[in-house]
Amino acid sequence: MTCQTYSLFVLSVIMIYFGRFGNSLILAQLQNDIDQLKADFNSSHSDVADGRPVFTEKLVNWTERNEKRIILSQIVSMYLEMLENTDKSKDHVRRISEELYTLKKSLPDGLKKMKDLMDLAKLQMSDLKIQRKAVNELFSVLHKLVEPSSSPKRKRSQPQRRCKC
Ligand SMILES: *[C@@H]1O[C@H](CO)[C@@H](O)[C@H](O)[C@H]1NC(C)=O
Ligand SMILES: *[C@@H]1O[C@H](CO)[C@@H](O)[C@H](O)[C@H]1NC(C)=O
Repeated sequence: MTCQTYSLFVLSVIMIYFGRFGNSLILAQLQNDIDQLKADFNSSHSDVADGRPVFTEKLVNWTERNEKRIILSQIVSMYLEMLENTDKSKDHVRRISEELYTLKKSLPDGLKKMKDLMDLAKLQMSDLKIQRKAVNELFSVLHKLVEPSSSPKRKRSQPQRRCKC
């Protein structure tokens, strides 16, 4: 084995190690698979350029790490759903699905928060019982908004008077 071959070998071992166990996508490795997927989906059709992008533009204002995990978990789920109906016997489809699935598993908090938002969207706010509960919780909700964000590093002492709700 020449020195160059060996260093390439070491590089690929490192990339595979960190790609898998660091749960990060190796974009270069996926580029070729994604190109094949584009061909499957006719992504070179002229209508792809019509209007606005579906995802990338929406990501622009999601800058904070925890925020990004929420929207990315949802977007990754949507890609997985799309690929569900694709021929999984194709190697590139299988590899992309596996990477997305790994990524999704690394974003469990994002998934949970996304589910919270979807559950909220389903609440029937015209329901009188729900309205009663909502009004009962209003003070606590507003209190959440004004209290300083709690980080694990600087835990604040519990307030003396706890809200009964
Ligand atoms: C892509 O285009 C080909 C040829 O027009 C068509 O047969 C095929 O169904 C298209 N595939 C998709 C996923 O739209
Ligand atoms: C991002 O936020 C800025 C400032 O609030 C706003 O003007 C812009 O339209 C937003 N962009 C998107 C894609 O939502």
